[in-house]
Amino acid sequence: MFYLHAMFQHYIQLSSFTTFGIHAKAKLFAEIHNHDQLLAIWKSSEYNSTNNKLILGGGSNMLFTKDFEGLVLRNKITGISFEDESEQSVIVTAGSGENWHELVLKCVENKLGGIENLSLIPGTVGASPVQNIGAYGVELKDTFVSLEAFDFETGQIVHFNNEECEFGYRDSIFKNKAKGRYFISSVNFRLKKPGFHKLNMSYGAINQVLQEMEISMPTIRDISNTIVSIRSSKLPNPKVIGNAGSFFKNPEVDESFCQLLLNDNPLMPTYSTQIAGFRKIAAGWLIEQCGWKGKSLGNAAVHKNQALVLTNPGNATGEEIKHLAEEIQKSVFEKFGVNLETEVNII
Ligand code: FAD
Ligand code: EPU
Repeated sequence: MFYLHAMFQHYIQLSSFTTFGIHAKAKLFAEIHNHDQLLAIWKSSEYNSTNNKLILGGGSNMLFTKDFEGLVLRNKITGISFEDESEQSVIVTAGSGENWHELVLKCVENKLGGIENLSLIPGTVGASPVQNIGAYGVELKDTFVSLEAFDFETGQIVHFNNEECEFGYRDSIFKNKAKGRYFISSVNFRLKKPGFHKLNMSYGAINQVLQEMEISMPTIRDISNTIVSIRSSKLPNPKVIGNAGSFFKNPEVDESFCQLLLNDNPLMPTYSTQIAGFRKIAAGWLIEQCGWKGKSLGNAAVHKNQALVLTNPGNATGEEIKHLAEEIQKSVFEKFGVNLETEVNII
């Protein structure tokens, strides 16, 4: 039995709950620790009289442009367990409110391989399937087995396997037809035991840093440390300067259009994609070519080392960041004919 009145809080400031650190209040707010609490909320008059709700993890992929006139559910579901699956692998189950990087470190400590390339990505475990987090040649979907979620339409607990999540580049069913319907409560991963895991060093900078550190036989821990070092040199630490990582996705364009762009811009970085007949273009490069790198507009800024990262150096409003993003989209479209899609959730 929960005391619902004690559970709900009113007009809560969200700035310290997002990595942009932008001021916005939630009209109604509750922290979620388990399924029973979700069910109690789902049955409550407060929930049923609100037509707007939002799940908040670590707030590292979210931009508030105004106060939220609804219910914000902040995820605090914890717990990590390891289950021996076979000689080769272990199933790791993590509560969705666990910090993603802490989970990675725990797996690295236990010499379990598969998510070390995803070191230092901010946020919670529960948000990791939402955009199929990815970095340095690895995506969440590569080790993801299944998840458990609370269904706001039926009040039931449901499960999704890998295929049912419809993962794509920074994409899943939870950003499309299932958007807002489920509260992901735990996630299962299959990780490999020592001797059965093949390290992924396909991303050029990894080998370069390993060579600089004179490491010829890297371990899972070495890869994790290398990724932490690369990321720390490129991306602003949200504790120091407000940001949400890449603000835009790298655009995936038709191969023939990509070739036309390459004819005029031979140095433009491009990559293969999971979609046949398409290539991915580095959005950071496009934005830098438009002259935005290190520039400010009002109180919003473009990071000096990574043009794909928009920042709040101090007093930016969500509207200012959004305005800067729109100006960048306009410039990139005018110069290259390419549409940049936002990765960050704009609320
Ligand atoms: P939030 O920002 O709180 O939420 C994101 C979305 O998921 C929202 O739509 C929210 O409603 C939904 N959501 C959150 N929790 C749940 C849940 N339990 N159930 C259902 N829906 C939920 N991302 C990458 O992929 N790769 C990177 O390399 C990377 N680097 C980053 C670097 C920096 C410095 C920063 C600030 C961000 C970076 N990101 C990166 C983006 C971000 O860290 C990820 O998207 C992360 O998974 C967001 O987690 P979160 O808990 O903060 O989610
Ligand atoms: N580049 C520029 N100018 C810039 C930034 C980048 O020319 O200002 C060029 C780089 O020189 C490089 C290319 O663009 O040739 C790619 O840059 P980088 O390796 O830094 O990666 P990214 O494409 O900008 C993506 C992800 C990151 C992820 C890294 C590493 C997206 C939208 N972003 O960034 O994810 O950490 O690769 O795998 O896919 C995030 O999603 O929030 C995020 C940080």
